[in-house]
Amino acid sequence: MKLIKRYIIIFCTLFCLYFIIAYKNRLFPSFILGKFHILSTDKNVTVKLKDLQYYYQSKTNPNIILYDVKQENSWKFQCPFTKYKESDISDVQICIYNPEHDEHISGQLNDYGKWEPVVVRSFLRLLRAIPNTHLIDVGANIGLYTLLATQLNRHVLSIEPLHDSLIRLHKSIQLNNVENFVTVIANAIGTKHEKLQLNIVDKNIGGSYLSILDKMKPPVKIIPDIVITPKVLADVDTIVLDDLIDIYPSYFKRAILKLDIEGFEAYAFQNATILFNKTEIPAVYMEFGKLIELKSSNEMMAAIKYMIHFLKIRNYEPYEVNDINHLSFDNWEKWPWDIVFKRCDLCRCAGMDKAVGSVE
Ligand SMILES: *[C@@H]1O[C@H](CO)[C@@H](O)[C@H](O)[C@H]1NC(C)=O
Ligand SMILES: *[C@@H]1O[C@H](CO)[C@@H](O)[C@H](O)[C@H]1NC(C)=O
Ligand SMILES: *[C@@H]1O[C@H](CO)[C@@H](O)[C@H](O)[C@H]1NC(C)=O
Repeated sequence: MKLIKRYIIIFCTLFCLYFIIAYKNRLFPSFILGKFHILSTDKNVTVKLKDLQYYYQSKTNPNIILYDVKQENSWKFQCPFTKYKESDISDVQICIYNPEHDEHISGQLNDYGKWEPVVVRSFLRLLRAIPNTHLIDVGANIGLYTLLATQLNRHVLSIEPLHDSLIRLHKSIQLNNVENFVTVIANAIGTKHEKLQLNIVDKNIGGSYLSILDKMKPPVKIIPDIVITPKVLADVDTIVLDDLIDIYPSYFKRAILKLDIEGFEAYAFQNATILFNKTEIPAVYMEFGKLIELKSSNEMMAAIKYMIHFLKIRNYEPYEVNDINHLSFDNWEKWPWDIVFKRCDLCRCAGMDKAVGSVE
């Protein structure tokens, strides 16, 4: 009898050990042990431990932190419908910030049901035109492009490091019943695997940016008596674009790349060769204006030139987002705020009758 008891105890101990080891990544990912801590913009407190249940490390690439959108959530946000009124897709419900803290994106979505209507129209037109094209949404914010793409039955890799945006995106994904279309990644895109700080911009949370960009800003004249609002910083774990192929679903062969990362766009291309090799990317939508603002920094200038060269040798042509005006590579310092690079062998390029790269 005593012997059996002992065996049971040994068996239970071993089972417990196995359980702990097997589920270590799930229960005690490194980010709980001090690596990962985010400030909440609403409450100005670190994220409550219970919220960490939504985050887990990817099994195929431990640098990637995934966010589980299938779990229940009980947050209460304001989630108005968009009002793009496109003929073939439904408008989506999108959970926004209090417009007091996010005047631009949340404010416009709240008041008009629209944000960047010209870019959105171009984006949807292109997505419709090329079947089986999915979306890589870098800097997804509260997920406008992510949610719209799902309405055309496209799959999305949605990348956004800010907890407050992620929980809103989570809620929106559930309200629109598109859990099976979106993979949410809670990293920032950078040039290596490291921990960086995100500067959360009150009144324009969508404009939050990686703090290391501060050193590239042109010096500003110090005006005495100006009130400097204290910075709210959030720690984020960076991955590179090439990491994404480790979590690609098998059908993810062709995708539009949308980059809106407040100045870091240029750097993202430094580790993107594998991604561009493995994926057909018909178009890259990007906010270019921030890059021009930061071009007085030598480092940024080099990154922009690298990016332009990267796209040029891969047969991309720059366009305004009206899809009509062709831009010139040589003239990039005069490019507008939003641009789209198109690979003309994969999508229609206005003003280019023959496919780029085709024989004369
Ligand atoms: C947020 O927290 C910091 C540090 O505890 C504090 O200095 C700051 O005043 C707080 N901000 C707000 C808006 O409550
Ligand atoms: C990013 O690219 C740089 C330059 O090619 C390389 O040294 C670095 O190892 C790459 N980082 C990752 C994480 O792939
Ligand atoms: C990408 O493809 C090009 C051309 O096929 C090849 O030369 C290059 O080595 C590839 N790069 C990577 C990182 O796979």
